[in-house]
Amino acid sequence: MRTPIIAGNWKLHMNPEQTVEFVNAVKGKLPDPSKVESVIAAPAVDLYVLKKTAEGSNLHTGAENAYFEVEGAFTGETSPKVLNEMGIDYCIIGHSERRGYFHETDEDINKKAKALFANGVTPIICCGESLETREANKQEEWVVAQIKAALEGLSADQVSKLVIAYEPIWAIGTGKTASADQAEEMCKTIRETVKDLYNEETAENVRIQYGGSVKPANVKELMSKPDIDGGLVGGASLDPESFLALVNYQD
Ligand code: G3P
Repeated sequence: MRTPIIAGNWKLHMNPEQTVEFVNAVKGKLPDPSKVESVIAAPAVDLYVLKKTAEGSNLHTGAENAYFEVEGAFTGETSPKVLNEMGIDYCIIGHSERRGYFHETDEDINKKAKALFANGVTPIICCGESLETREANKQEEWVVAQIKAALEGLSADQVSKLVIAYEPIWAIGTGKTASADQAEEMCKTIRETVKDLYNEETAENVRIQYGGSVKPANVKELMSKPDIDGGLVGGASLDPESFLALVNYQD
C-alpha cells in the first residue's frame, strides 16, 4: 500500500523568519506520516531553519533543486551530499520551471536523480506537457519520453522509493487544474511505463503525485483516484491553514 504524500513547493517564496513562523504554525496539526506524508520543499536559503524547526514533528523536508556534483567549482549550486548531511529527505528535480527557464535537459535530470540516490536523498522527479502538446494530443508520448530518460540506469529498488510528479505546465499557477480524470489517466500511464521498464512490483511501489493548481477544494477528488498518490503544490502550500487543509484531506 502506497502512503499518500502531499508536498509543498515554495518556489521563490519565504525567507528564514517566515519559514520558522510557518513550521511553528503547522507542526502538531499534521497527520501521522504513516497516514499522509507532509513535506515542505523550500528555497536553499531556508533549508537549515526548515529542518531545525521541523525536528520532532511530522513535517518532512525537501529541496527544490540540487546539482549532480557534490562539491567543486559550481557557483550557486546545491550539493546532494550536503542536503543529506542536513537531514533533508527529498529533492525536487526536473520541475518545468527548471527545464524552461534554466534549460535543464532530461540528461541533467537523470544525473541529478543518480547523485541524489547516491547521497541518500529521495528525488521527486517532475514531468509534464505544455498546452501546445496537450492540444495536439501528444501529451502521453511526451511524458513517457521524459520518464524513460529520467529513469535511465536507475535500479528497480531506487525507482520503488522514488516520487514522480506529473505537472501539466498548463495547470501550473493558472488555477486551471487538470480534471481528476485527466490527472489519473496520465498517472496511470506513468505507472504502466514503470511496469514496462521494470516490473509490476516496482510500478506498484513508486508514488506518483499530481501537481498543477492543487487546492483544498480539489485535493479530495484528485486523491480518490487509484494512481494518484499525492500532490505537489505551489501557491496553496504557502499558507499554513491551506497546507493543513491539504495534508488533512482524509479528515
Ligand atoms: O511544483 C508544484 C507547482 O508547480 C504547482 O504550482 O501554484 O499550480 O500549485 P501551483
